[in-house]
Amino acid sequence: MLGVIGGSGLYSLEGLKVVDEVFPKTPFGEPSSPLLIGEVEGRKLVFLARHGRDHSFPPHLVPYRANLWAMREAGVERVLAVSAVGGINSVLKPGDFFLPTSFIDLTKGREATFYEGRFSRKVEGEDKVARLMSEGKVVHIDLSDPYCPEMRSSLEEILKEKGLRYTHGGVYACTDGPRFETPAEIRMLNKLGADVVGMTGVPEVVLARELEMCYANISVVANPAAGISEGRLTSDEVIEMMSGKEKEIKEIISKLVKSLPEERTCNCEKSLEGAEV
Ligand code: HPA
Repeated sequence: MLGVIGGSGLYSLEGLKVVDEVFPKTPFGEPSSPLLIGEVEGRKLVFLARHGRDHSFPPHLVPYRANLWAMREAGVERVLAVSAVGGINSVLKPGDFFLPTSFIDLTKGREATFYEGRFSRKVEGEDKVARLMSEGKVVHIDLSDPYCPEMRSSLEEILKEKGLRYTHGGVYACTDGPRFETPAEIRMLNKLGADVVGMTGVPEVVLARELEMCYANISVVANPAAGISEGRLTSDEVIEMMSGKEKEIKEIISKLVKSLPEERTCNCEKSLEGAEV
């Protein structure tokens, strides 16, 4: 099943025939919002608002582990994350879609793994994830290709078919926020090879991989990053851009649900092979 994590400006999914709503307690606390379980194009889909329905979770305090765990419990195997970013690479213009293929993590102090060795939560379940946690294993996940290639290529097909401006391939830098960056930080990120900057992409992508889920990110360039164009950055312009893109994002999600094959052919579901110490 596909799970969608909606970012700023995307707090629900119209067109989703909601059949159930769950708000589970997980070993990592409660998710940021109830999970809406519904149907799109005859396929089941789960939706979660990353910042909460009322946007009350700032990026550094989003319960990323609870969110991914709740998705797992709901039976999600693939996650599509939607987010707003600032554009660093001058090729990227506000309104463009961006499908990252790698990331740079500049966050600090976020709970970024399920596998805490002897300190891991003891969870119920028979599968590999539950065993690794319950046995207190140390796990080093491979992130050579952190964003699911199968989902990315489906998304690219959809963006191409719809004639939307997009870039497939590039680096997402994740800062802690909630403040925007300084121009000096953006110059540094540019030199480090980052194409876009956001505040929520990590550890979400890592946690999904640790649960052997497929995960892809579709970012919308909401603004040129700090210092790239003149003027201040405001939350208003980010929300305004995301609201303007809502219809397109929903259409992309509907098409994605239909286009993904039932069985996964990527390697995401084998992520834990060889990862435990
Ligand atoms: N920086 C970080 N996160 C963002 C930005 C930005 O400029 N725009 C939208 N999300």
